[in-house]
Amino acid sequence: MKKIGVLTSGGDCSGMNATIRSAVRTALRMNLTVTGFRKGFAGLIKGDTLPLDSRAVSGIMHRGGTFLQSARCPEFRTPEGQRTALDNLRRLGIEGLVVIGGDGSLNGALALHRHGFPVVGIPASIDNDIAFTDMAIGVDTALNNIIYAVDCIKDTASSHARAFVIEVMGRNSGYLASVSGIATGAECVIVPETECDLVQLCIQLRHRYQEGRDNAIIIVAEGAGEARTIADTIKDAIGFETRVTVLGHYQRGGAPSVFDRLLASRFGKRAVELLLEGMSGVMVGLSCHNLIATPIEEVVKTEKRPHEDMLQLAEMLGI
Ligand code: ADP
Ligand code: F6P
Repeated sequence: MKKIGVLTSGGDCSGMNATIRSAVRTALRMNLTVTGFRKGFAGLIKGDTLPLDSRAVSGIMHRGGTFLQSARCPEFRTPEGQRTALDNLRRLGIEGLVVIGGDGSLNGALALHRHGFPVVGIPASIDNDIAFTDMAIGVDTALNNIIYAVDCIKDTASSHARAFVIEVMGRNSGYLASVSGIATGAECVIVPETECDLVQLCIQLRHRYQEGRDNAIIIVAEGAGEARTIADTIKDAIGFETRVTVLGHYQRGGAPSVFDRLLASRFGKRAVELLLEGMSGVMVGLSCHNLIATPIEEVVKTEKRPHEDMLQLAEMLGI
């Protein structure tokens, strides 16, 4: 193998740049040439490339987002789109590809593998909804962003005796909500994995309110319901003045945490090693601090085990 490609796809997250850097520097050490594709699979289809030498990836470790840019590319889901991408890869003399992204992007990587093209995936998504890895790149930084914001909101919540319903991302996963709930001491966490009894929640909040605890933080995962509806229900039931904060894309950016920089550096290096070892169609993952490789076929058909321990801890430590 003499030349490989790298791309970032799907929702961006902090640590993608550090992952690209690690993959590129590892490949260069192994005497490979590296080509970057802009905007994920869209760049594969358009043949939109840039050469990645050591200098191209210097000074990017601490930057959030991805300098290769990312995109959602419906065309790549079609056989025609994939054929064009494969033609471009062959024309460019690229013999292996590192795909950095979430579960959708891993499906894209799997499609290339099924066409016989060597590809290794790296899980990168704030949602932490990808099986066969304890953590994906970007999760830790997103959690740090969330707890910073919630701590700020707690200050104003207590000054004004208000209940705040704070919506966090996660698509269908309540991981970000439950872990940030534990870390901020939230009164309540609402996640898609468990049914929320709003009536019971209001009773508990009213009880606390009558005892003089006149502010509260409720963290709701975006996949678990409408933050506004939950806030209105609380207001109507208790008369508690409520406000809603949707943290939105703020969660996805910013300088990556130490954990994410390290994970990105380990994953990037291992992905290139796997390609050189002749592996294809696998995803690098973290299992109890160790690096593992799992067939992407298994990854995408396995629902990530619900984080029961986190859900229970968040509930136990709340109201
Ligand atoms: P993420 O990777 O963050 O989960 P998406 O689900 O939007 O984000 O997927 C990113 C891209 O991966 C899609 O826009 C598409 O180009 C590609 N992709 C997703 N699913 C498939 C699939 N089943 N087959 C081929 N490509 C796919
Ligand atoms: O998958 C990452 C994620 O940030 C989800 O948490 C969220 O639902 C989605 O992407 C938002 O997507 P977009 O950036 O396209 O609005």
